[in-house]
Amino acid sequence: MSQIRAAITGIQGYLPDYVLTNAELEKMVDTNDEWITARTGIKERHILKGEGLGTSHMAAEAVKGLLAKTNTAAGDIDLLICATTTPDFVFPSTANLICDMVGIKSIGSFDIQAACSGFIYALTVGSQFIETGKYKKVIVVGADKMSAIIDYTDRTTCVLFGDGAGAVLLEPNTEGLGILDTIIKSDGAGQPFLHQKAGGSRFPPTHETIDKRWHYAYQDGQSVFKFAVTNMADVAAEIMERNHLSGDDVAWLVPHQANKRIISATANRMKVGMDKVMLNIHKYGNTTAATIPLCLWDYESQLNKGDNLIFAAFGGGFTWGSVYVKWAY
Ligand code: ACO
Repeated sequence: MSQIRAAITGIQGYLPDYVLTNAELEKMVDTNDEWITARTGIKERHILKGEGLGTSHMAAEAVKGLLAKTNTAAGDIDLLICATTTPDFVFPSTANLICDMVGIKSIGSFDIQAACSGFIYALTVGSQFIETGKYKKVIVVGADKMSAIIDYTDRTTCVLFGDGAGAVLLEPNTEGLGILDTIIKSDGAGQPFLHQKAGGSRFPPTHETIDKRWHYAYQDGQSVFKFAVTNMADVAAEIMERNHLSGDDVAWLVPHQANKRIISATANRMKVGMDKVMLNIHKYGNTTAATIPLCLWDYESQLNKGDNLIFAAFGGGFTWGSVYVKWAY
Protein backbone atom coordinates (compact mmCIF):
# COMPACT_ATOMS: atom_id res chain seq x y z
CA MET A 1 0.00 0.00 0.00
CA SER A 2 1.32 3.48 -0.83
CA GLN A 3 2.34 5.72 2.03
CA ILE A 4 -0.35 7.81 3.75
CA ARG A 5 0.35 11.54 3.65
CA ALA A 6 -1.55 14.28 5.47
CA ALA A 7 -3.05 16.57 2.81
CA ILE A 8 -4.50 20.00 3.43
CA THR A 9 -7.99 19.66 1.92
CA GLY A 10 -9.49 22.97 3.02
CA ILE A 11 -8.49 26.36 4.39
CA GLN A 12 -10.42 29.19 6.02
CA GLY A 13 -9.34 32.44 7.61
CA TYR A 14 -10.97 34.96 9.91
CA LEU A 15 -10.07 38.59 10.52
CA PRO A 16 -11.83 40.90 12.96
CA ASP A 17 -13.53 43.96 11.43
CA TYR A 18 -11.55 46.78 13.05
CA VAL A 19 -8.63 48.00 10.91
CA LEU A 20 -5.78 49.82 12.68
CA THR A 21 -3.91 51.87 10.08
CA ASN A 22 -0.42 53.36 10.22
CA ALA A 23 -2.12 56.79 10.21
CA GLU A 24 -3.99 55.92 13.42
CA LEU A 25 -0.78 54.62 15.04
CA GLU A 26 0.86 57.96 14.21
CA LYS A 27 -1.65 59.53 16.61
CA MET A 28 -0.88 56.99 19.37
CA VAL A 29 2.96 56.84 19.40
CA ASP A 30 5.94 58.68 17.89
CA THR A 31 5.99 56.84 14.57
CA ASN A 32 5.13 57.42 10.94
CA ASP A 33 3.83 55.54 7.93
CA GLU A 34 7.14 55.94 6.09
CA TRP A 35 9.18 54.26 8.88
CA ILE A 36 6.71 51.40 9.35
CA THR A 37 6.39 50.73 5.63
CA ALA A 38 10.13 50.90 4.91
CA ARG A 39 11.24 48.82 7.94
CA THR A 40 8.44 46.21 8.00
CA GLY A 41 6.18 46.41 4.92
CA ILE A 42 3.09 46.82 7.14
CA LYS A 43 0.31 49.29 6.23
CA GLU A 44 -2.56 48.11 8.42
CA ARG A 45 -3.62 45.32 10.77
CA HIS A 46 -6.93 43.97 12.11
CA ILE A 47 -7.75 44.23 15.81
CA LEU A 48 -10.35 42.22 17.74
CA LYS A 49 -12.56 44.59 19.72
CA GLY A 50 -15.41 43.59 21.99
CA GLU A 51 -15.63 42.74 25.66
CA GLY A 52 -15.00 39.11 26.52
CA LEU A 53 -13.76 38.13 23.07
CA GLY A 54 -10.49 36.22 23.02
CA THR A 55 -8.44 34.21 20.55
CA SER A 56 -11.03 31.40 20.64
CA HIS A 57 -13.63 33.71 19.06
CA MET A 58 -11.54 34.20 15.91
CA ALA A 59 -10.41 30.57 15.80
CA ALA A 60 -13.98 29.27 16.19
CA GLU A 61 -15.15 31.53 13.33
CA ALA A 62 -12.37 30.14 11.12
CA VAL A 63 -13.20 26.54 12.08
CA LYS A 64 -16.95 27.07 11.50
CA GLY A 65 -16.19 28.45 8.05
CA LEU A 66 -13.83 25.55 7.33
CA LEU A 67 -16.46 22.94 8.26
CA ALA A 68 -19.07 24.65 6.06
CA LYS A 69 -16.70 25.11 3.13
CA THR A 70 -15.47 21.51 3.17
CA ASN A 71 -18.94 20.06 3.85
CA THR A 72 -17.64 18.41 6.99
CA ALA A 73 -19.84 17.57 9.97
CA ALA A 74 -18.47 18.65 13.34
CA GLY A 75 -18.96 15.08 14.53
CA ASP A 76 -16.53 13.74 11.91
CA ILE A 77 -13.50 15.62 13.29
CA ASP A 78 -11.07 13.31 15.12
CA LEU A 79 -8.65 15.85 16.61
CA LEU A 80 -8.26 19.65 16.86
CA ILE A 81 -4.95 21.39 17.55
CA CYS A 82 -4.70 25.14 18.17
CA ALA A 83 -1.40 26.98 17.82
CA THR A 84 -1.51 30.14 19.88
CA THR A 85 0.63 32.35 22.09
CA THR A 86 -2.37 34.32 23.31
CA PRO A 87 -4.69 31.66 24.77
CA ASP A 88 -7.97 32.88 26.27
CA PHE A 89 -6.89 31.43 29.62
CA VAL A 90 -3.79 29.84 31.11
CA PHE A 91 -6.12 26.84 31.30
CA PRO A 92 -8.27 25.30 29.91
CA SER A 93 -6.72 25.23 26.47
CA THR A 94 -8.07 27.38 23.68
CA ALA A 95 -8.52 24.21 21.60
CA ASN A 96 -10.98 22.90 24.22
CA LEU A 97 -12.96 26.17 23.97
CA ILE A 98 -13.01 26.16 20.17
CA CYS A 99 -14.44 22.62 20.08
CA ASP A 100 -17.20 23.66 22.45
CA MET A 101 -17.98 26.80 20.43
CA VAL A 102 -18.31 24.93 17.12
CA GLY A 103 -20.10 21.84 18.47
CA ILE A 104 -17.23 19.34 18.26
CA LYS A 105 -17.74 16.94 21.17
CA SER A 106 -15.51 14.51 23.06
CA ILE A 107 -12.44 14.46 20.85
CA GLY A 108 -8.84 15.16 21.82
CA SER A 109 -7.93 18.83 21.53
CA PHE A 110 -4.91 20.75 22.76
CA ASP A 111 -2.82 23.89 22.27
CA ILE A 112 0.70 24.20 20.95
CA GLN A 113 2.77 27.19 21.97
CA ALA A 114 5.68 28.00 19.68
CA ALA A 115 5.08 31.72 19.11
CA CYS A 116 5.34 32.67 15.45
CA SER A 117 6.38 29.12 14.45
CA GLY A 118 3.24 27.72 16.13
CA PHE A 119 1.39 26.80 12.95
CA ILE A 120 4.38 24.88 11.58
CA TYR A 121 4.74 23.03 14.88
CA ALA A 122 1.00 22.23 15.01
CA LEU A 123 0.95 21.07 11.40
CA THR A 124 3.94 18.82 12.10
CA VAL A 125 2.17 17.24 15.09
CA GLY A 126 -1.25 17.01 13.41
CA SER A 127 0.14 15.35 10.30
CA GLN A 128 1.60 12.49 12.37
CA PHE A 129 -1.89 11.36 13.44
CA ILE A 130 -2.96 11.12 9.78
CA GLU A 131 0.26 9.46 8.56
CA THR A 132 0.03 6.70 11.16
CA GLY A 133 -3.56 5.98 10.09
CA LYS A 134 -4.90 6.76 13.56
CA TYR A 135 -7.14 9.65 12.46
CA LYS A 136 -8.93 10.64 9.23
CA LYS A 137 -9.82 14.30 9.88
CA VAL A 138 -7.63 16.64 11.89
CA ILE A 139 -8.12 20.41 12.18
CA VAL A 140 -5.09 22.61 12.77
CA VAL A 141 -5.85 26.23 13.61
CA GLY A 142 -3.38 29.07 14.12
CA ALA A 143 -4.89 32.02 16.00
CA ASP A 144 -3.62 34.96 17.99
CA LYS A 145 -5.07 38.06 19.58
CA MET A 146 -1.72 39.83 19.80
CA SER A 147 -3.47 43.11 20.70
CA ALA A 148 -4.11 41.55 24.14
CA ILE A 149 -0.38 41.53 24.96
CA ILE A 150 0.84 44.56 23.03
CA ASP A 151 1.81 47.76 24.79
CA TYR A 152 0.26 50.51 22.68
CA THR A 153 2.69 53.03 24.17
CA ASP A 154 5.74 51.06 22.90
CA ARG A 155 6.39 52.07 19.30
CA THR A 156 8.95 49.30 18.79
CA THR A 157 6.31 46.55 19.05
CA CYS A 158 2.85 48.07 18.65
CA VAL A 159 3.26 48.78 14.94
CA LEU A 160 4.16 45.16 14.16
CA PHE A 161 1.29 42.96 15.29
CA GLY A 162 -2.32 42.25 14.39
CA ASP A 163 -5.08 39.77 15.27
CA GLY A 164 -6.41 36.90 13.15
CA ALA A 165 -6.99 33.18 12.72
CA GLY A 166 -6.63 30.54 10.02
CA ALA A 167 -7.67 26.89 10.03
CA VAL A 168 -6.86 23.91 7.80
CA LEU A 169 -8.37 20.45 7.47
CA LEU A 170 -5.92 17.54 7.19
CA GLU A 171 -7.05 14.28 5.55
CA PRO A 172 -5.21 11.18 4.30
CA ASN A 173 -3.81 11.11 0.77
CA THR A 174 -2.18 8.12 -0.91
CA GLU A 175 -1.35 9.81 -4.25
CA GLY A 176 1.88 11.41 -3.02
CA LEU A 177 0.20 14.74 -2.25
CA GLY A 178 0.16 16.61 1.07
CA ILE A 179 2.79 17.25 3.73
CA LEU A 180 5.95 15.54 2.48
CA ASP A 181 8.49 16.80 5.03
CA THR A 182 8.71 18.95 8.16
CA ILE A 183 11.53 20.46 10.23
CA ILE A 184 11.03 22.05 13.66
CA LYS A 185 13.81 23.60 15.76
CA SER A 186 14.17 25.61 18.95
CA ASP A 187 16.70 27.40 21.14
CA GLY A 188 15.49 28.50 24.56
CA ALA A 189 18.50 30.79 24.91
CA GLY A 190 16.47 33.22 22.77
CA GLN A 191 14.14 33.98 25.68
CA PRO A 192 15.73 37.31 26.73
CA PHE A 193 15.20 38.77 23.26
CA LEU A 194 11.50 38.01 22.79
CA HIS A 195 9.06 37.18 25.57
CA GLN A 196 6.10 38.11 27.73
CA LYS A 197 7.74 38.14 31.12
CA ALA A 198 4.85 38.02 33.60
CA GLY A 199 1.65 36.04 33.88
CA GLY A 200 3.23 32.60 33.97
CA SER A 201 4.54 30.61 36.94
CA ARG A 202 7.91 32.38 37.18
CA PHE A 203 6.38 35.83 37.62
CA PRO A 204 2.69 35.43 38.50
CA PRO A 205 0.78 38.69 37.98
CA THR A 206 1.14 41.22 40.79
CA HIS A 207 0.72 44.97 41.00
CA GLU A 208 4.49 45.18 40.58
CA THR A 209 4.56 43.14 37.35
CA ILE A 210 1.76 45.29 35.97
CA ASP A 211 3.59 48.51 36.94
CA LYS A 212 6.72 47.21 35.21
CA ARG A 213 4.64 46.41 32.10
CA TRP A 214 5.90 42.81 32.17
CA HIS A 215 2.56 41.46 30.94
CA TYR A 216 3.24 42.91 27.50
CA ALA A 217 5.30 41.40 24.68
CA TYR A 218 8.91 42.53 24.77
CA GLN A 219 11.16 42.31 21.73
CA ASP A 220 14.76 43.33 21.13
CA GLY A 221 14.00 43.84 17.44
CA GLN A 222 17.53 44.06 16.09
CA SER A 223 18.74 40.88 17.83
CA VAL A 224 15.64 38.95 16.80
CA PHE A 225 16.04 40.24 13.25
CA LYS A 226 19.56 38.78 13.00
CA PHE A 227 18.47 35.34 14.25
CA ALA A 228 15.31 35.39 12.12
CA VAL A 229 17.06 36.26 8.87
CA THR A 230 19.63 33.49 9.28
CA ASN A 231 17.48 30.73 10.72
CA MET A 232 14.37 31.14 8.56
CA ALA A 233 16.50 31.15 5.40
CA ASP A 234 18.64 28.22 6.64
CA VAL A 235 15.70 26.00 7.52
CA ALA A 236 13.97 26.69 4.19
CA ALA A 237 17.20 25.88 2.34
CA GLU A 238 17.64 22.70 4.43
CA ILE A 239 14.20 21.32 3.57
CA MET A 240 14.75 22.11 -0.11
CA GLU A 241 18.16 20.43 -0.18
CA ARG A 242 17.06 17.24 1.50
CA ASN A 243 14.09 16.98 -0.89
CA HIS A 244 16.27 17.82 -3.93
CA LEU A 245 14.27 20.94 -4.80
CA SER A 246 15.70 23.91 -6.69
CA GLY A 247 14.18 27.40 -6.66
CA ASP A 248 12.55 26.58 -10.02
CA ASP A 249 10.76 23.56 -8.50
CA VAL A 250 9.06 25.72 -5.86
CA ALA A 251 5.67 27.16 -6.87
CA TRP A 252 5.26 29.21 -3.68
CA LEU A 253 7.19 30.24 -0.61
CA VAL A 254 4.71 30.68 2.25
CA PRO A 255 6.66 32.66 4.84
CA HIS A 256 5.75 33.84 8.30
CA GLN A 257 4.86 37.52 7.96
CA ALA A 258 6.99 39.34 10.56
CA ASN A 259 9.00 41.63 8.34
CA LYS A 260 9.16 42.00 4.55
CA ARG A 261 12.96 42.25 4.73
CA ILE A 262 13.23 38.84 6.47
CA ILE A 263 10.91 37.37 3.84
CA SER A 264 13.01 38.78 0.95
CA ALA A 265 16.20 37.39 2.49
CA THR A 266 14.62 33.93 2.75
CA ALA A 267 13.37 34.03 -0.85
CA ASN A 268 16.80 35.16 -1.99
CA ARG A 269 18.53 32.27 -0.22
CA MET A 270 16.04 29.81 -1.79
CA LYS A 271 16.58 31.39 -5.23
CA VAL A 272 12.82 31.97 -5.47
CA GLY A 273 11.59 35.19 -7.12
CA MET A 274 9.37 37.54 -5.12
CA ASP A 275 6.56 36.82 -7.63
CA LYS A 276 6.38 33.35 -6.04
CA VAL A 277 6.24 34.57 -2.44
CA MET A 278 2.91 34.82 -0.61
CA LEU A 279 2.63 38.24 1.02
CA ASN A 280 -0.14 39.79 3.08
CA ILE A 281 1.92 41.55 5.77
CA HIS A 282 0.81 44.93 4.39
CA LYS A 283 -2.84 44.09 5.23
CA TYR A 284 -2.58 42.10 8.45
CA GLY A 285 0.84 42.74 10.07
CA ASN A 286 2.26 39.90 12.14
CA THR A 287 -0.62 37.71 13.34
CA THR A 288 1.83 35.22 14.95
CA ALA A 289 0.40 31.67 14.53
CA ALA A 290 -2.14 32.83 11.94
CA THR A 291 0.19 34.27 9.28
CA ILE A 292 0.78 31.09 7.25
CA PRO A 293 -2.85 29.85 7.11
CA LEU A 294 -4.00 33.41 6.31
CA CYS A 295 -1.54 33.47 3.38
CA LEU A 296 -2.88 30.13 2.10
CA TRP A 297 -6.43 31.48 2.43
CA ASP A 298 -5.62 34.66 0.51
CA TYR A 299 -3.80 32.79 -2.27
CA GLU A 300 -6.02 29.67 -2.40
CA SER A 301 -7.46 30.47 -5.84
CA GLN A 302 -3.93 30.67 -7.31
CA LEU A 303 -2.86 27.23 -6.07
CA ASN A 304 -2.84 24.16 -8.31
CA LYS A 305 -2.81 20.46 -7.50
CA GLY A 306 0.79 19.24 -7.38
CA ASP A 307 2.33 22.68 -6.62
CA ASN A 308 5.39 22.51 -4.38
CA LEU A 309 4.98 24.86 -1.40
CA ILE A 310 7.62 25.66 1.21
CA PHE A 311 6.36 27.09 4.50
CA ALA A 312 8.96 28.78 6.73
CA ALA A 313 8.69 30.58 10.07
CA PHE A 314 10.71 32.03 12.93
CA GLY A 315 9.51 33.21 16.31
CA GLY A 316 9.82 33.53 20.05
CA GLY A 317 11.63 30.77 21.92
CA PHE A 318 13.48 30.97 19.67
CA THR A 319 11.56 28.56 17.48
CA TRP A 320 11.77 28.04 13.76
CA GLY A 321 10.78 25.50 11.16
CA SER A 322 9.77 24.60 7.65
CA VAL A 323 7.21 22.38 5.93
CA TYR A 324 7.27 20.98 2.38
CA VAL A 325 3.79 20.49 0.95
CA LYS A 326 2.67 19.16 -2.42
CA TRP A 327 -0.69 20.93 -2.75
CA ALA A 328 -3.57 18.47 -3.00
CA TYR A 329 -6.32 20.41 -4.82
N1 ACO B 1 8.62 54.34 14.45
C1 ACO B 1 9.68 55.15 14.27
N2 ACO B 1 10.91 54.85 14.73
C2 ACO B 1 11.06 53.67 15.37
C3 ACO B 1 10.00 52.80 15.60
C4 ACO B 1 8.72 53.17 15.10
N3 ACO B 1 7.63 52.39 15.25
N4 ACO B 1 10.45 51.72 16.27
C5 ACO B 1 11.76 51.90 16.46
N5 ACO B 1 12.13 53.10 15.93
C6 ACO B 1 13.47 53.69 15.89
C7 ACO B 1 14.37 53.13 16.96
O1 ACO B 1 14.19 53.78 18.18
C8 ACO B 1 15.73 53.39 16.37
O2 ACO B 1 16.05 54.75 16.58
P1 ACO B 1 17.58 55.19 16.87
O3 ACO B 1 18.34 54.79 15.64
O4 ACO B 1 17.44 56.64 17.08
O5 ACO B 1 17.98 54.42 18.10
C9 ACO B 1 15.51 53.22 14.86
O6 ACO B 1 14.08 53.35 14.66
C10 ACO B 1 15.94 51.87 14.34
O7 ACO B 1 15.42 50.84 15.19
P2 ACO B 1 15.76 49.33 14.97
O8 ACO B 1 15.17 48.51 16.07
O9 ACO B 1 17.23 49.19 14.69
O10 ACO B 1 14.96 49.04 13.60
P3 ACO B 1 15.01 47.76 12.70
O11 ACO B 1 15.40 48.14 11.34
O12 ACO B 1 15.76 46.65 13.36
O13 ACO B 1 13.47 47.36 12.62
C11 ACO B 1 12.02 45.69 13.55
C12 ACO B 1 12.77 47.00 13.79
C13 ACO B 1 11.00 45.95 12.46
C14 ACO B 1 11.31 45.28 14.83
C15 ACO B 1 13.01 44.59 13.10
O14 ACO B 1 14.10 44.57 13.97
C16 ACO B 1 12.41 43.20 13.04
O15 ACO B 1 11.61 42.90 12.15
N6 ACO B 1 12.83 42.29 13.93
C17 ACO B 1 12.44 40.86 13.86
C18 ACO B 1 10.98 40.65 14.14
C19 ACO B 1 10.69 39.15 14.14
O16 ACO B 1 10.97 38.43 13.20
N7 ACO B 1 10.14 38.63 15.24
C20 ACO B 1 9.89 37.20 15.36
C21 ACO B 1 8.48 36.87 15.26
S1 ACO B 1 7.49 37.66 16.49
C22 ACO B 1 6.98 36.43 17.60
O17 ACO B 1 7.47 35.34 17.63
C23 ACO B 1 5.92 36.79 18.61
